[in-house]
Amino acid sequence: MPVAIITGASKGLGRALAEALAARGWDLVLDARTAGVLQEAADGVRTYGTRVTALPGDVTDAGHRAELVAAAWRLGGLDLLVSNASALGAKPLVRLEALPAEGLRRALEVNVVAALGLVQEALPLLRASGAGTVITVSSDAAAEAYETWGGYGASKAALDHLAAVLGAEEPGQRVWAVDPGDMATDLYAAAVPDDGDPRPAPVSVVPGFLRLLDERPASGRYAVPALLEGQR
Ligand SMILES: NC(=O)c1ccc[n+]([C@@H]2O[C@H](COP(=O)([O-])OP(=O)(O)OC[C@H]3O[C@@H](n4cnc5c(N)ncnc54)[C@H](OP(=O)(O)O)[C@@H]3O)[C@@H](O)[C@H]2O)c1
Repeated sequence: MPVAIITGASKGLGRALAEALAARGWDLVLDARTAGVLQEAADGVRTYGTRVTALPGDVTDAGHRAELVAAAWRLGGLDLLVSNASALGAKPLVRLEALPAEGLRRALEVNVVAALGLVQEALPLLRASGAGTVITVSSDAAAEAYETWGGYGASKAALDHLAAVLGAEEPGQRVWAVDPGDMATDLYAAAVPDDGDPRPAPVSVVPGFLRLLDERPASGRYAVPALLEGQR
């Protein structure tokens, strides 16, 4: 069975991806900081009958990242790493003039430094897989200049660039930066608490990720709304 690590898998997009991969027979290593919520998600994913290792921890902790990769090794290796856990830098989001330096540092630490650390830890197993794949979850805030999304957007732009360079450095693997589009999640509600517009459920964007896994296009940046065009 193929094996994936998904960070931030206790809720939102990470959990929806975990369920979809388990339904396809993937064995999984799942992470999030809040142990009880992660455990509940892992129990749900286990109902698909695959092996699931749930490890609570913070992706900024190098020891925790090593444990995630070690758990994948115990499941037989690593075929897919999804860097999905993310920090906003401020809740709610604020204009750059008010963005605390500490918030920006946290966004960079979680979204960029930890994501690279996990890739570095995982590369030997990914290279050993016949189909090593890295997905970094991006955002349209990485590419568009939305007021108040500057710190978070800068961190996602940096993550996109890391993914692009990794794709060039690792021609034997697929490295996709994927913008899922807006989703109704706790992260979105924390970012913009007074947003009244309905947003799609995370499960609705999962087919875009599955299309990438099925078709294995070249490394690069992809947006789920474009991937799903004509498929809905
Ligand atoms: N929602 C949107 O509209 C939207 C749009 C574009 C891109 N995205 C991206 O989509 C991805 C998933 O976000 P989401 O909206 O699904 O968020 P979510 O529902 O709030 O889920 C975030 C997940 O990450 C975990 N997490 C957060 N910080 C962590 C850390 N330092 N270490 C380990 N786990 C951590 C959370 O659990 P704990 O809090 O317990 O750790 C949770 O499992 C993120 O990369 C986000 O930037 C979201």
